Amino acid sequence: MKFNKRSHTAGELRIQNESNEVVLNGWVNSRRDLGNLIFITIRDRYGITQVVFEPTENNSELMELAKKIRLEFVISVEGKVRKRPAEMVNSKMETGEIEVVAEKLVILNEAETPPFPITDKVDASEELRLQYRYLDLRRKEMQQNLLLRHKMYQIVRRYFDSQNFIEVETPILMKSTPEGARDYLVPSRIHKGKFYALPQSPQTYKQLLMVSGFDRYFQITKCFRDEDLRADRQPEFTQIDVEMSFVDVPDIFEIVENLMKILLSEIKNYDLQLPLPRLSYDEAMEKYGSDKPDLRFDMEIIHLNEIVRNSEFKVFQDFHEKGVIGALLVKNAAHFSRKQIDNLTEFVKKQGVGGLAWAKITEEGFTSPISKFLTEAEMFSIKQEMNANIGDLILIVSAEKDKSLKALGNLRLELAKQLNLIKPDSKPALLWVTDFPLFEWDEETQRFYAMHHPFTSPKIEDLDKLESNPGEVKARAYDLVMNGSEIAGGSIRIHNSELQAKMFKALGISDEEAQMKFGFLMNAFKFGAPPHGGIAFGFDRLAMIFAERDSIRDVIAFPKTSSAMSLMDNSPSPVDESQLKELHIKISD
Ligand code: AMO
Repeated sequence: MKFNKRSHTAGELRIQNESNEVVLNGWVNSRRDLGNLIFITIRDRYGITQVVFEPTENNSELMELAKKIRLEFVISVEGKVRKRPAEMVNSKMETGEIEVVAEKLVILNEAETPPFPITDKVDASEELRLQYRYLDLRRKEMQQNLLLRHKMYQIVRRYFDSQNFIEVETPILMKSTPEGARDYLVPSRIHKGKFYALPQSPQTYKQLLMVSGFDRYFQITKCFRDEDLRADRQPEFTQIDVEMSFVDVPDIFEIVENLMKILLSEIKNYDLQLPLPRLSYDEAMEKYGSDKPDLRFDMEIIHLNEIVRNSEFKVFQDFHEKGVIGALLVKNAAHFSRKQIDNLTEFVKKQGVGGLAWAKITEEGFTSPISKFLTEAEMFSIKQEMNANIGDLILIVSAEKDKSLKALGNLRLELAKQLNLIKPDSKPALLWVTDFPLFEWDEETQRFYAMHHPFTSPKIEDLDKLESNPGEVKARAYDLVMNGSEIAGGSIRIHNSELQAKMFKALGISDEEAQMKFGFLMNAFKFGAPPHGGIAFGFDRLAMIFAERDSIRDVIAFPKTSSAMSLMDNSPSPVDESQLKELHIKISD
């Protein structure tokens, strides 16, 4: 089909272009047929321009054709730019001062009526949007999200290049070495009964690159994890993966902090103050009940164990020694109704604690169902310790340490939601969480698991506890947290095969199993491995936060649903019997 190529984009024409002869190519965004006049707007990814078809003595063919135009038709329009009369100027459109008077029209392609309108605010369900993702991606807000993502890739690449990092691609088909989540497996046709795995991360490869002497590596790469999905998780997601040799924790922090400073400055025009605050894992848990605290609002957990040590209240007696009696001060919330407090009680019970004690500070004093168990002095001390004033509400959880802190941490977030404590214009809150435990105990399987991954170095001062008291060993591991979301995590690695062997032993991984799964890495460490460490960013999460979205799917072009489906191409899907046969696979019932 012959058509004239655009002279301008649909976002480009301004008053200065008045009287220019122009060609626009794009989609029909809106259409108003006033009988003798037809107005349309034409859209491309740069913007929208109004085009008007006006009858003249000799353009009846053009008018006929214009009548056939429907929404989302692809067209090429030629015409003259005209200044709009003052009362027709649309200040909401960048091109709102002009319109193009059509002289020629080519319909390049017709379109069926789309299943939902291509507009900013769309009512359609997410399922429908995902099924017709190519239409959803025509919408301005989705285009802006992907544009932002593009900008972030470029800043990241430029930054690491400027810091002497080199980008190396690592394999997508690799050995199955489950790191925490389940692997996605790919059967081998050539090697019957054998499988590749898709990488959960390029962890082992980047460490091998350090052994090879590459010193400073980065990669923007896909990772695959077959795990339960949430709003901020996808089965395939993108990492900015980083590894460095001859470094310690501060070197990695500096590289990462400067990247965040540049990203925030270039994208959000925000001047990030460095160095970023740091909290140890223990401090983060004690103060915020979370290893990824949202510091956009205060409300620290106040520990009351000492104050209520002699209380007659059974629930306090049970836990003041071994557990945590923790409280949150909810400012100006003494008006909370019985029902609101009951709902909060239900909320914490779902986190596995027995209940929620509360006290309102009113004109009459300390008003609480548990005041009969407390002395005047205890009530006074609680008020004092909490810094509570008239009109405030105190919420108290008493339980085993981990349960209590986690429940309080989640309650803190829930209150922030209910009370709108996080303002849309609040400053980004970044911090490092450091000194994670090396191991996590799993009740179900009665064994320790690596909290990060098995290549994480223990803190040197804890080395002697590796065998005697593994639960107490801290790791040289860190997470970067932004607005309550873990956006990056990493560690200094073990670079010596003896220590690595000890680590596997502590994890209950036998020599044979270690050799089979990680032999290649342990062997490599025998040939001169430099001290090294690194970090990986969840790129989609970072983009989600920068785009101010609640769902990671909004910043991924073709995401999966929470049940790991692609609704557009209907994957996963059955395959031919012949394909299975080639792969030596039989589906059992
Ligand atoms: P980790 O497992 O902490 O570390 O992952 C790094 C970051 O990736 C993001 N992330 C995810 N994003 C979306 N969907 C998921 N399913 C998902 N899982 C993780 C998080 C997380 O902080 N190899 C190590 C890094 C290292 O030690 O250098 C690793 O992968 O933002």
